[in-house]
Amino acid sequence: MRIALEVNGRPIDTEVSPNLLLVELLRDHLRLTGTHNGCDTSQCGACTVHLNGSSVKSCAMLAVEADGGCVLTIEGLAQGDQLHPMQQAFHEHHGLQCGFCTPGMVMSAVDLAQRQVNPSEAEIREWLEGNICRCTGYQNIVKAAAAGIAAMGAK
Ligand code: FES
Ligand code: FES
Repeated sequence: MRIALEVNGRPIDTEVSPNLLLVELLRDHLRLTGTHNGCDTSQCGACTVHLNGSSVKSCAMLAVEADGGCVLTIEGLAQGDQLHPMQQAFHEHHGLQCGFCTPGMVMSAVDLAQRQVNPSEAEIREWLEGNICRCTGYQNIVKAAAAGIAAMGAK
């Protein structure tokens, strides 16, 4: 099937099989390997990207479902050498250990920032429930997300 979509601002027009997952399109076809495939069963959140501005688990969607849409991956967040405020916050607050969950955590936290200006710690924890960190670094992840949300609000 032929699909046309935008990925990180770049138009993509490509032929895909009907059962290709969005995460496979991103990683295997477009070589955007910042989006991780951690479980393939919609549980870990490592594959989180934005579709039309909202976070989605790209292992739980077919590529054809993104036809006509705009996808943003972790590679599309920074502006050149300038980290996105959420990436900067994860860096400053040590919100990562091995980094495997980090792209998904960052993309989820950016989505929360777009929805809520000043979420409580409990609300951040609840929002990030679908993102699992196998290093269990949740304390700093939550601190980083809060700082990133505040920085995005201040812009
Ligand atoms: S790889 Fe998509 S939720 Fe784990
Ligand atoms: S930092 Fe290792 S999985 Fe989260």
